[in-house]
Amino acid sequence: AAAELALTPPLGWNSWNAYRCDIDETKIKAAADAMVAQGLKAAGYTYVNIDDCWQAHTRDANGNLTAHPDRFPNGIKPIADYVHAKGLKLGIYATPGTKTCANIWDAYPGALGSLGHEQADAATFAAWGVDYLKYDWCQADRDGLVARDAFTKMRDALAATGRPIVLSIHDEPQLPVPSWRPEVANLWRTTSDIAPTWSSVSSIIDKQVGLESFSGPGAWNDPDMLQVGNGTLTAEENRTHFSMWALLNAPLLTGNVLGSMSPATRAVLTNPDVIAVDQDWGGHQGVRVRDTGDQELWRKPMSDGSQVVVLLNRGAAAATMSANAADLGFPGRADLTAKELWDKTTTAVGTSLSVSVPSHGVKVYRVSSAAGTVTPVVSGSTNTVKS
Ligand code: DGJ
Repeated sequence: AAAELALTPPLGWNSWNAYRCDIDETKIKAAADAMVAQGLKAAGYTYVNIDDCWQAHTRDANGNLTAHPDRFPNGIKPIADYVHAKGLKLGIYATPGTKTCANIWDAYPGALGSLGHEQADAATFAAWGVDYLKYDWCQADRDGLVARDAFTKMRDALAATGRPIVLSIHDEPQLPVPSWRPEVANLWRTTSDIAPTWSSVSSIIDKQVGLESFSGPGAWNDPDMLQVGNGTLTAEENRTHFSMWALLNAPLLTGNVLGSMSPATRAVLTNPDVIAVDQDWGGHQGVRVRDTGDQELWRKPMSDGSQVVVLLNRGAAAATMSANAADLGFPGRADLTAKELWDKTTTAVGTSLSVSVPSHGVKVYRVSSAAGTVTPVVSGSTNTVKS
Protein backbone atom coordinates (compact mmCIF):
# COMPACT_ATOMS: atom_id res chain seq x y z
CA ALA A 1 0.00 0.00 0.00
CA ALA A 2 1.13 3.54 -0.60
CA ALA A 3 2.83 4.03 2.75
CA GLU A 4 2.31 7.75 3.13
CA LEU A 5 -1.47 7.46 2.71
CA ALA A 6 -4.18 6.64 5.23
CA LEU A 7 -1.79 6.86 8.15
CA THR A 8 -4.95 6.92 10.24
CA PRO A 9 -8.18 5.19 9.20
CA PRO A 10 -10.07 7.23 6.58
CA LEU A 11 -12.99 9.32 7.85
CA GLY A 12 -15.71 10.28 5.42
CA TRP A 13 -19.01 9.45 3.76
CA ASN A 14 -19.92 6.99 1.03
CA SER A 15 -23.04 7.00 -1.11
CA TRP A 16 -23.86 3.27 -1.05
CA ASN A 17 -25.54 2.74 2.32
CA ALA A 18 -27.51 5.95 1.91
CA TYR A 19 -28.63 5.69 -1.71
CA ARG A 20 -27.37 2.41 -3.18
CA CYS A 21 -27.56 2.78 -6.96
CA ASP A 22 -29.71 5.90 -6.97
CA ILE A 23 -27.04 8.62 -7.05
CA ASP A 24 -26.41 11.84 -8.91
CA GLU A 25 -24.42 15.05 -8.77
CA THR A 26 -26.96 16.80 -6.53
CA LYS A 27 -26.77 14.12 -3.88
CA ILE A 28 -22.99 13.95 -3.84
CA LYS A 29 -22.66 17.73 -3.57
CA ALA A 30 -25.32 17.79 -0.86
CA ALA A 31 -23.29 15.24 1.10
CA ALA A 32 -20.23 17.49 0.86
CA ASP A 33 -22.31 20.50 1.94
CA ALA A 34 -23.75 18.61 4.89
CA MET A 35 -20.36 17.26 5.91
CA VAL A 36 -19.39 20.85 6.56
CA ALA A 37 -22.74 22.18 7.84
CA GLN A 38 -23.36 19.30 10.23
CA GLY A 39 -19.95 19.56 11.84
CA LEU A 40 -18.49 16.37 10.42
CA LYS A 41 -15.65 18.13 8.67
CA ALA A 42 -14.76 19.87 11.93
CA ALA A 43 -14.80 16.45 13.60
CA GLY A 44 -12.23 15.16 11.11
CA TYR A 45 -14.28 13.68 8.25
CA THR A 46 -12.65 14.24 4.88
CA TYR A 47 -13.68 11.85 2.11
CA VAL A 48 -16.82 12.20 0.02
CA ASN A 49 -16.96 8.86 -1.77
CA ILE A 50 -19.03 8.07 -4.82
CA ASP A 51 -19.84 4.34 -4.88
CA ASP A 52 -21.16 2.19 -7.71
CA CYS A 53 -23.59 3.46 -10.40
CA TRP A 54 -21.83 6.67 -11.43
CA GLN A 55 -20.69 5.43 -14.83
CA ALA A 56 -22.05 5.86 -18.31
CA HIS A 57 -23.03 2.57 -19.86
CA THR A 58 -20.22 2.67 -22.39
CA ARG A 59 -16.67 3.96 -22.53
CA ASP A 60 -16.11 7.08 -24.62
CA ALA A 61 -14.63 7.13 -28.12
CA ASN A 62 -11.13 7.01 -26.64
CA GLY A 63 -11.95 4.03 -24.47
CA ASN A 64 -12.07 6.04 -21.25
CA LEU A 65 -14.58 5.77 -18.44
CA THR A 66 -17.09 8.60 -18.33
CA ALA A 67 -19.83 9.54 -15.93
CA HIS A 68 -23.48 8.81 -16.68
CA PRO A 69 -24.75 11.88 -18.59
CA ASP A 70 -28.09 12.06 -16.76
CA ARG A 71 -26.68 11.50 -13.30
CA PHE A 72 -23.49 13.52 -13.62
CA PRO A 73 -24.10 15.84 -16.58
CA ASN A 74 -20.94 17.84 -15.86
CA GLY A 75 -18.76 14.82 -15.28
CA ILE A 76 -16.74 14.08 -12.18
CA LYS A 77 -14.04 16.75 -12.34
CA PRO A 78 -16.31 19.65 -11.31
CA ILE A 79 -17.47 17.57 -8.35
CA ALA A 80 -13.87 16.99 -7.32
CA ASP A 81 -13.28 20.73 -7.62
CA TYR A 82 -16.40 21.46 -5.56
CA VAL A 83 -15.39 19.03 -2.85
CA HIS A 84 -11.79 20.25 -2.80
CA ALA A 85 -12.93 23.86 -2.47
CA LYS A 86 -14.54 22.83 0.81
CA GLY A 87 -11.30 21.31 2.06
CA LEU A 88 -12.63 17.78 1.50
CA LYS A 89 -11.48 14.91 -0.74
CA LEU A 90 -13.25 12.89 -3.39
CA GLY A 91 -13.50 9.13 -3.70
CA ILE A 92 -14.74 7.02 -6.59
CA TYR A 93 -15.56 3.39 -7.32
CA ALA A 94 -14.35 0.83 -9.86
CA THR A 95 -13.83 -2.91 -10.23
CA PRO A 96 -11.02 -5.08 -11.61
CA GLY A 97 -13.18 -7.32 -13.82
CA THR A 98 -15.41 -6.64 -16.79
CA LYS A 99 -18.42 -5.31 -14.86
CA THR A 100 -19.17 -3.37 -11.69
CA CYS A 101 -21.24 -5.09 -9.03
CA ALA A 102 -24.36 -3.12 -9.84
CA ASN A 103 -24.09 -4.32 -13.39
CA ILE A 104 -24.45 -7.83 -12.00
CA TRP A 105 -26.81 -7.40 -9.04
CA ASP A 106 -28.52 -4.03 -9.00
CA ALA A 107 -29.99 -3.54 -12.44
CA TYR A 108 -27.51 -0.91 -13.51
CA PRO A 109 -26.54 -2.34 -16.87
CA GLY A 110 -23.44 -1.38 -18.74
CA ALA A 111 -21.21 -0.24 -15.88
CA LEU A 112 -17.77 -1.44 -16.76
CA GLY A 113 -14.81 -2.80 -14.88
CA SER A 114 -11.23 -1.70 -15.45
CA LEU A 115 -9.93 -4.98 -16.85
CA GLY A 116 -7.35 -4.15 -19.50
CA HIS A 117 -7.81 -0.42 -18.83
CA GLU A 118 -6.13 -0.17 -15.43
CA GLN A 119 -3.54 2.45 -16.39
CA ALA A 120 -5.99 4.51 -18.42
CA ASP A 121 -8.64 4.44 -15.68
CA ALA A 122 -6.15 5.34 -12.96
CA ALA A 123 -4.97 8.24 -15.15
CA THR A 124 -8.59 9.33 -15.68
CA PHE A 125 -9.27 9.32 -11.94
CA ALA A 126 -6.07 11.26 -11.25
CA ALA A 127 -6.93 13.81 -13.95
CA TRP A 128 -10.35 14.33 -12.39
CA GLY A 129 -8.77 14.95 -8.99
CA VAL A 130 -9.86 11.75 -7.30
CA ASP A 131 -8.22 11.08 -3.92
CA TYR A 132 -9.57 7.64 -3.02
CA LEU A 133 -10.52 4.58 -5.03
CA LYS A 134 -12.81 1.81 -3.80
CA TYR A 135 -11.90 -1.17 -5.96
CA ASP A 136 -14.63 -3.75 -5.51
CA TRP A 137 -14.52 -7.39 -6.59
CA CYS A 138 -17.97 -8.78 -7.23
CA GLN A 139 -16.95 -12.07 -8.68
CA ALA A 140 -14.16 -10.80 -10.87
CA ASP A 141 -13.04 -14.41 -10.58
CA ARG A 142 -15.73 -14.97 -13.23
CA ASP A 143 -13.38 -13.09 -15.51
CA GLY A 144 -10.57 -15.45 -14.55
CA LEU A 145 -8.86 -12.88 -12.31
CA VAL A 146 -6.63 -13.65 -9.36
CA ALA A 147 -7.24 -11.09 -6.62
CA ARG A 148 -3.66 -10.43 -5.64
CA ASP A 149 -2.63 -9.77 -9.23
CA ALA A 150 -5.70 -7.73 -10.08
CA PHE A 151 -5.41 -5.47 -7.04
CA THR A 152 -1.65 -5.11 -7.42
CA LYS A 153 -2.14 -4.00 -11.01
CA MET A 154 -4.38 -1.15 -9.89
CA ARG A 155 -2.08 -0.23 -7.01
CA ASP A 156 0.75 0.15 -9.51
CA ALA A 157 -1.44 2.03 -11.97
CA LEU A 158 -2.44 4.51 -9.25
CA ALA A 159 1.18 4.92 -8.17
CA ALA A 160 2.16 5.64 -11.77
CA THR A 161 -0.20 8.62 -11.89
CA GLY A 162 1.86 10.43 -9.26
CA ARG A 163 -1.32 11.52 -7.47
CA PRO A 164 -1.79 10.23 -3.90
CA ILE A 165 -4.90 8.03 -4.12
CA VAL A 166 -5.99 5.82 -1.23
CA LEU A 167 -6.75 2.27 -2.40
CA SER A 168 -9.64 0.46 -0.69
CA ILE A 169 -10.18 -3.11 -1.87
CA HIS A 170 -12.90 -5.70 -1.48
CA ASP A 171 -11.67 -9.22 -2.13
CA GLU A 172 -13.91 -12.27 -1.91
CA PRO A 173 -13.93 -14.25 0.24
CA GLN A 174 -13.08 -11.51 2.72
CA LEU A 175 -11.59 -13.89 5.29
CA PRO A 176 -9.06 -15.14 6.06
CA VAL A 177 -6.92 -12.07 5.37
CA PRO A 178 -4.02 -13.06 3.12
CA SER A 179 -0.76 -11.42 4.13
CA TRP A 180 -0.43 -9.60 0.78
CA ARG A 181 -3.37 -7.28 1.40
CA PRO A 182 -1.51 -4.79 3.61
CA GLU A 183 1.18 -4.59 0.93
CA VAL A 184 -1.28 -3.82 -1.81
CA ALA A 185 -4.08 -1.78 -0.28
CA ASN A 186 -4.65 0.88 2.35
CA LEU A 187 -7.77 -0.92 3.52
CA TRP A 188 -9.50 -4.18 2.70
CA ARG A 189 -12.94 -5.49 3.52
CA THR A 190 -13.17 -8.17 6.18
CA THR A 191 -16.87 -8.95 5.73
CA SER A 192 -19.58 -9.05 3.13
CA ASP A 193 -22.01 -6.13 3.06
CA ILE A 194 -23.21 -4.60 6.30
CA ALA A 195 -26.97 -4.16 6.78
CA PRO A 196 -28.60 -1.57 9.07
CA THR A 197 -29.59 -4.16 11.65
CA TRP A 198 -28.26 -5.28 15.01
CA SER A 199 -27.71 -8.85 13.79
CA SER A 200 -25.49 -7.62 10.96
CA VAL A 201 -23.45 -5.29 13.17
CA SER A 202 -23.16 -7.96 15.83
CA SER A 203 -21.99 -10.69 13.45
CA ILE A 204 -19.43 -8.35 11.86
CA ILE A 205 -17.95 -7.64 15.29
CA ASP A 206 -17.38 -11.38 15.78
CA LYS A 207 -15.53 -11.66 12.50
CA GLN A 208 -12.93 -9.07 13.52
CA VAL A 209 -11.43 -11.22 16.27
CA GLY A 210 -7.91 -12.33 15.36
CA LEU A 211 -7.29 -9.81 12.58
CA GLU A 212 -5.29 -7.43 14.79
CA SER A 213 -1.85 -8.17 13.40
CA PHE A 214 -2.77 -6.94 9.93
CA SER A 215 -3.78 -3.48 11.10
CA GLY A 216 -1.46 -0.51 11.19
CA PRO A 217 -0.77 2.92 9.71
CA GLY A 218 -1.46 2.87 5.98
CA ALA A 219 -3.15 -0.55 6.07
CA TRP A 220 -6.47 -1.13 7.85
CA ASN A 221 -8.97 -3.92 8.32
CA ASP A 222 -12.31 -2.69 6.94
CA PRO A 223 -15.42 -4.16 8.60
CA ASP A 224 -17.47 -2.16 6.07
CA MET A 225 -19.02 1.29 6.08
CA LEU A 226 -21.15 2.67 8.87
CA GLN A 227 -24.90 2.21 9.14
CA VAL A 228 -25.22 4.65 12.07
CA GLY A 229 -28.59 6.37 11.74
CA ASN A 230 -29.97 3.82 9.29
CA GLY A 231 -32.52 1.01 9.32
CA THR A 232 -33.62 -0.51 12.57
CA LEU A 233 -30.55 0.37 14.63
CA THR A 234 -31.56 1.93 17.95
CA ALA A 235 -29.76 4.83 19.62
CA GLU A 236 -27.98 2.32 21.84
CA GLU A 237 -26.99 0.15 18.89
CA ASN A 238 -25.71 3.15 16.95
CA ARG A 239 -23.38 3.99 19.82
CA THR A 240 -22.22 0.38 20.03
CA HIS A 241 -21.61 0.19 16.26
CA PHE A 242 -19.60 3.42 16.25
CA SER A 243 -17.63 2.57 19.40
CA MET A 244 -16.64 -0.86 18.13
CA TRP A 245 -15.58 0.43 14.71
CA ALA A 246 -13.42 3.01 16.50
CA LEU A 247 -11.90 0.38 18.77
CA LEU A 248 -11.09 -1.70 15.68
CA ASN A 249 -9.33 1.18 13.91
CA ALA A 250 -11.88 0.81 11.15
CA PRO A 251 -12.44 3.40 8.45
CA LEU A 252 -15.34 5.56 9.62
CA LEU A 253 -17.33 6.09 6.44
CA THR A 254 -20.79 7.29 7.26
CA GLY A 255 -23.58 5.85 5.15
CA ASN A 256 -26.58 7.94 6.12
CA VAL A 257 -28.20 10.95 4.45
CA LEU A 258 -26.13 13.59 6.21
CA GLY A 259 -28.37 16.55 5.50
CA SER A 260 -31.38 15.10 7.29
CA MET A 261 -29.80 13.15 10.13
CA SER A 262 -31.20 13.48 13.63
CA PRO A 263 -29.32 15.36 16.34
CA ALA A 264 -28.81 12.02 18.09
CA THR A 265 -27.17 10.50 15.02
CA ARG A 266 -25.00 13.57 14.56
CA ALA A 267 -23.92 13.36 18.19
CA VAL A 268 -22.79 9.76 17.67
CA LEU A 269 -20.89 10.48 14.47
CA THR A 270 -19.12 13.53 15.86
CA ASN A 271 -18.18 12.26 19.33
CA PRO A 272 -14.61 13.57 19.50
CA ASP A 273 -13.46 11.18 22.21
CA VAL A 274 -14.59 8.12 20.26
CA ILE A 275 -13.16 9.42 16.97
CA ALA A 276 -9.86 9.92 18.82
CA VAL A 277 -9.87 6.21 19.71
CA ASP A 278 -10.22 5.32 16.03
CA GLN A 279 -7.54 7.73 14.91
CA ASP A 280 -4.91 6.56 17.42
CA TRP A 281 -3.43 3.23 16.44
CA GLY A 282 -1.37 2.90 19.62
CA GLY A 283 0.41 -0.24 18.39
CA HIS A 284 -2.57 -2.53 18.15
CA GLN A 285 -6.13 -2.72 16.93
CA GLY A 286 -8.55 -3.40 19.78
CA VAL A 287 -8.78 -6.99 20.97
CA ARG A 288 -11.53 -9.02 22.62
CA VAL A 289 -9.98 -10.01 25.93
CA ARG A 290 -13.02 -11.51 27.63
CA ASP A 291 -16.06 -13.25 26.23
CA THR A 292 -18.58 -14.74 28.59
CA GLY A 293 -21.39 -15.28 26.14
CA ASP A 294 -23.35 -12.08 25.82
CA GLN A 295 -20.92 -9.94 27.82
CA GLU A 296 -17.57 -9.05 26.33
CA LEU A 297 -14.61 -6.89 27.28
CA TRP A 298 -12.54 -5.37 24.48
CA ARG A 299 -9.41 -3.32 24.92
CA LYS A 300 -7.09 -1.17 22.88
CA PRO A 301 -3.81 0.42 23.92
CA MET A 302 -3.54 4.13 23.14
CA SER A 303 -0.30 5.80 22.17
CA ASP A 304 -0.29 7.99 25.31
CA GLY A 305 -0.21 4.88 27.50
CA SER A 306 -3.89 4.93 28.41
CA GLN A 307 -6.15 2.01 27.56
CA VAL A 308 -9.59 2.10 25.98
CA VAL A 309 -11.88 -0.54 27.40
CA VAL A 310 -15.26 -1.35 25.90
CA LEU A 311 -17.77 -3.29 27.96
CA LEU A 312 -20.19 -4.72 25.40
CA ASN A 313 -23.50 -6.31 26.35
CA ARG A 314 -25.01 -8.23 23.47
CA GLY A 315 -27.76 -9.67 25.65
CA ALA A 316 -31.47 -8.85 25.54
CA ALA A 317 -31.43 -7.32 29.05
CA ALA A 318 -29.19 -4.89 30.90
CA ALA A 319 -26.29 -6.58 32.66
CA THR A 320 -23.90 -5.58 35.41
CA MET A 321 -20.35 -5.88 34.14
CA SER A 322 -17.11 -5.61 36.09
CA ALA A 323 -13.49 -5.09 35.19
CA ASN A 324 -10.46 -5.26 37.48
CA ALA A 325 -7.13 -3.54 37.03
CA ALA A 326 -5.76 -6.31 34.85
CA ASP A 327 -8.90 -6.28 32.68
CA LEU A 328 -8.44 -2.54 32.31
CA GLY A 329 -4.90 -3.06 31.06
CA PHE A 330 -3.11 -2.01 34.25
CA PRO A 331 -2.37 -5.16 36.28
CA GLY A 332 -1.35 -4.36 39.84
CA ARG A 333 -2.36 -0.72 39.75
CA ALA A 334 -4.73 0.73 42.32
CA ASP A 335 -4.74 4.33 41.10
CA LEU A 336 -6.88 4.11 37.99
CA THR A 337 -9.26 6.71 36.65
CA ALA A 338 -11.69 6.11 33.82
CA LYS A 339 -13.50 8.57 31.58
CA GLU A 340 -16.64 7.19 29.96
CA LEU A 341 -16.57 8.50 26.41
CA TRP A 342 -20.34 8.80 25.90
CA ASP A 343 -21.55 10.33 29.17
CA LYS A 344 -18.16 12.05 29.77
CA THR A 345 -18.06 11.23 33.48
CA THR A 346 -14.66 10.55 34.99
CA THR A 347 -14.54 8.03 37.82
CA ALA A 348 -11.78 7.22 40.28
CA VAL A 349 -11.77 3.49 39.71
CA GLY A 350 -9.09 2.41 42.16
CA THR A 351 -8.68 -1.27 41.33
CA SER A 352 -11.94 -2.20 39.63
CA LEU A 353 -15.19 -0.90 38.25
CA SER A 354 -18.67 -2.31 38.01
CA VAL A 355 -21.45 -0.84 35.91
CA SER A 356 -24.82 -1.64 34.39
CA VAL A 357 -24.56 -1.91 30.60
CA PRO A 358 -27.81 -1.65 28.64
CA SER A 359 -28.96 -4.34 26.22
CA HIS A 360 -26.98 -4.08 22.95
CA GLY A 361 -25.07 -1.25 24.60
CA VAL A 362 -21.55 -0.33 25.55
CA LYS A 363 -19.63 1.55 28.15
CA VAL A 364 -16.44 2.93 26.68
CA TYR A 365 -13.73 3.91 29.13
CA ARG A 366 -10.44 5.63 28.58
CA VAL A 367 -8.45 4.37 31.54
CA SER A 368 -5.27 5.86 32.91
CA SER A 369 -3.06 5.34 35.89
CA ALA A 370 -1.66 8.22 37.95
CA ALA A 371 1.63 6.31 37.99
CA GLY A 372 1.71 6.34 34.21
CA THR A 373 2.04 3.74 31.53
CA VAL A 374 2.52 0.04 31.86
CA THR A 375 3.54 -2.05 28.88
CA PRO A 376 0.31 -2.81 27.09
CA VAL A 377 -0.89 -6.27 28.01
CA VAL A 378 -2.75 -7.67 25.05
CA SER A 379 -4.28 -11.07 25.48
CA GLY A 380 -7.05 -12.93 23.73
CA SER A 381 -5.15 -12.98 20.48
CA THR A 382 -2.36 -15.12 19.16
CA ASN A 383 -1.20 -12.41 16.79
CA THR A 384 2.04 -10.60 17.31
CA VAL A 385 2.04 -6.86 17.71
CA LYS A 386 3.03 -5.17 14.47
CA SER A 387 5.97 -2.82 15.01
C1 DGJ B 1 -20.46 -4.53 -3.05
C2 DGJ B 1 -19.79 -3.73 -1.97
O1 DGJ B 1 -19.48 -4.56 -0.89
C3 DGJ B 1 -20.69 -2.60 -1.53
O2 DGJ B 1 -20.07 -1.88 -0.50
C4 DGJ B 1 -21.01 -1.72 -2.70
O3 DGJ B 1 -19.83 -1.08 -3.15
C5 DGJ B 1 -21.64 -2.52 -3.83
N1 DGJ B 1 -20.82 -3.66 -4.17
C6 DGJ B 1 -21.84 -1.68 -5.06
O4 DGJ B 1 -22.31 -2.42 -6.13
